Amino acid sequence: MSSSKPSKPNSKATALPIQHADIEWKNNVPYSKYFDDVYYSTTNGYQESEYNFQQQSSLKSRWQNHASQQTFTIIETGFGSGLNFFATWKNWRNTEKKPKHLYFISTELYPLKLQHIQHAINDWPELTPFLNEFMDQYPPPTQGFHQRQFSADNLTLLLLFGDATERLTEMTHPADTWFLDGFNPKKNPDLWSSALFQQINRLSKADTNLATYTSSIEVQRKLAAINFDVEKRPGYGKKREMLVATRNLKQPPNSNPNTSNANSTNTTSNTSNTNTNTNTNNARPDHTLSQNSPVKGASIPTAQADKKPWFNIQSPVKSTEKSAVIIGAGIAGMCCAASLAQRGWNVTVLEKNNDCAKEGSGNPWGALYTRFNTYPSPVNQFFQSSFNFSVGYMNALHKQAPLENFWNPCGLLQCAFSDKEEEQLRALAKSGFWPKSLLSYKTPTQASAIAGVKIDRPGLWIPSSGLVSPRGLCQFILKQHPNIQLRCNQHVATLTPIKKKQQDYWQLLDSDSKLISESQIVIIANAHAAHELNPTRYLPVSQIRGQLSYFSCTETSKQLKTIVSYEGYILPSDRLTNNGHSHLLGATFHPKDNHLKLRKKDHQQNLLQLSRVSEDLAEQLGKNNASESLAGRVGFRCQSPDYLPMVGPIPVLDQFIADYAGLRVGKLKKDYPPGTYYPGLYCNVAHGSKGLISAPISAEIITSYIENSPQPLPEKLLHSVHPARFIIRKLKRREY
Ligand SMILES: Cc1cc2nc3c(=O)[nH]c(=O)nc-3n(C[C@H](O)[C@H](O)[C@H](O)COP(=O)(O)OP(=O)(O)OC[C@H]3O[C@@H](n4cnc5c(N)ncnc54)[C@H](O)[C@@H]3O)c2cc1C
Ligand SMILES: C[S@@+](CC[C@H](N)C(=O)[O-])C[C@H]1O[C@@H](n2cnc3c(N)ncnc32)[C@H](O)[C@@H]1O
Repeated sequence: MSSSKPSKPNSKATALPIQHADIEWKNNVPYSKYFDDVYYSTTNGYQESEYNFQQQSSLKSRWQNHASQQTFTIIETGFGSGLNFFATWKNWRNTEKKPKHLYFISTELYPLKLQHIQHAINDWPELTPFLNEFMDQYPPPTQGFHQRQFSADNLTLLLLFGDATERLTEMTHPADTWFLDGFNPKKNPDLWSSALFQQINRLSKADTNLATYTSSIEVQRKLAAINFDVEKRPGYGKKREMLVATRNLKQPPNSNPNTSNANSTNTTSNTSNTNTNTNTNNARPDHTLSQNSPVKGASIPTAQADKKPWFNIQSPVKSTEKSAVIIGAGIAGMCCAASLAQRGWNVTVLEKNNDCAKEGSGNPWGALYTRFNTYPSPVNQFFQSSFNFSVGYMNALHKQAPLENFWNPCGLLQCAFSDKEEEQLRALAKSGFWPKSLLSYKTPTQASAIAGVKIDRPGLWIPSSGLVSPRGLCQFILKQHPNIQLRCNQHVATLTPIKKKQQDYWQLLDSDSKLISESQIVIIANAHAAHELNPTRYLPVSQIRGQLSYFSCTETSKQLKTIVSYEGYILPSDRLTNNGHSHLLGATFHPKDNHLKLRKKDHQQNLLQLSRVSEDLAEQLGKNNASESLAGRVGFRCQSPDYLPMVGPIPVLDQFIADYAGLRVGKLKKDYPPGTYYPGLYCNVAHGSKGLISAPISAEIITSYIENSPQPLPEKLLHSVHPARFIIRKLKRREY
């Protein structure tokens, strides 16, 4: 019955992968061998979920009472089979009077395998339509935030894989309602630790409520200590009692759940994580929390806010009209437009060219690609999260419109183009850090079988990757959303702040100072032209030239079935790329090079790069194509100095320099004020070589800033792409 203990996941550099749950079926109910407990009642899990969580938290009446809110947020501990999620989704769909958008945020340390979720939920046919929509959106078992959209229902699921307390420290958005469902506290005391209740305290509002199936005295005590009024109610089935609780902020906030009752003995474990559980099944996994969980009162908004006040925007502009203007109709601008339109905004996109996606996003096709590794630097974490997000995003969009030609999940082989690279890729696959479903190591013979052509080098097979047509995606977004208006041949030259009915607005003017548009909310998504506009003039963006080559195919090369990447990439020739007659080979990378025309030597370089992983293919394509007459495309990437995009509100440079002058003289811990930002102004630029993966998630980040809704990424990653980061770095280096 007991199973071997998985190693401890933690978020440090030596982090190990998330393990799937180890379960058995008892009376057709999943039973956890790690925790010696069932996931839900053996009487009827769905009825139990309805009773404990939906009814006892008064969810439907709370939705009605909060109908004027833009968003409603439920946070759950323990996603498990998703039963609570599916039940909530069904109720949400069937409730008329409710807030505009529901966020269901759920933590999970040991995700169930998808087939187990299917097995469990298929017991209730009324939930299968929801299960079917969810299935191809279930994320791979990797630590971190995984956001998934169910747009038709205005519902967002944010799965936080990893330990609940640890993940919640990375959240900034408070819950309207909590579902606490993490197994019996006696069997899983690590989850129900004081540190978790500190996070519940930090992430609760004045009227937040909570439901939990447990009636544990210890849980009652911890809830009371963080100012929740606790009430016992009859339990479901064989269970005598359960708890509901409502925030009561009449008492002064008490940040420490252990200090409310000096006489009570704390029988659960705490953050020191000594294994004090009473569970006799010693197979239960040990998951040490990192010790950096903040211990803060409810008034402290975020885990990092007090350390980095400059990233805090004090009062985001609320657009009374729910309309926004976006400058630039590349993939960054169009994904932002889609994200806002989806939430009921009217969006105007201003583009200087005569159509969308004519510049950086004008390539016919590109690859969804990032390098996976084990070192959790912000760059790695941001792009790896973006990759997973984009795969889910493309699959979901494509499901809505299967005949549209912007996505082909054909997989990608990342081939080792040098011996050193080969060693790194082999070590990465061996580390087990990434699940096999995401990437696996292949010998040249295996790689050749997958690719359909001869591959000389080993590499990683990433089956979820695929081809994206940025232009096709932009056109599809326009077609899909009638509330997006694209206005072409509109070159925005100036942004002028004005007051209208005491509200902040921006006027967008052309080079003759003629008014093009005005709006409370403006998003600058014009890539390296950001430095032409006053508020973003100082952003350190640079242009990097890239040349693509279109090589006519041969009979053999036509067999190529997947993307093959190395220092560059070759895309399969089937009818997706360039009408099926040629392969797209990319791409050169030349900073400080403004040459607009195709260059023969760049075509040769693209072919040379291919020859390092498939000599045969390169030779055939070379023979079939004279580089003098090759077609191709020149484009320019917009790059930041740290390779990450710039996504977020736009700081007022002079005010930043004045407010944070202390940083120039090493005063890092001074009591600094929050940052000063241009009201209603955001930027979304510098997507470098990876815009196809970074644009969709960046659009969600911008929307969350604008709507003040839960962010799709942990706070530290938001800071890593925050436009203010360069000012702060320069101040610390005394460059301002
Ligand atoms: C050769 C090459 C190959 C690439 N391959 C890949 C790949 O395989 N995978 C991948 O993920 N990424 C790839 N990229 C990168 C990716 O294409 C970019 O990151 C992405 O297209 C950037 O999108 P964007 O919307 O930020 O910029 P853009 O597409 O350049 O859009 C900016 C828009 O703003 C408009 N504009 C500018 N100023 C104004 C103004 N003042 N008023 C109105 N409009 C304005 C421009 O006309 C333009 O349409 C590649 C890039 C190149 C160049
Ligand atoms: C009772 S089950 C949840 C049932 C679930 N709500 C459902 O609808 O199926 C408890 C879940 O909590 C998860 N869990 C246990 N300890 C955890 C921790 N420290 N952090 C996050 N999740 C945890 C378990 O893996 C399990 O999936």
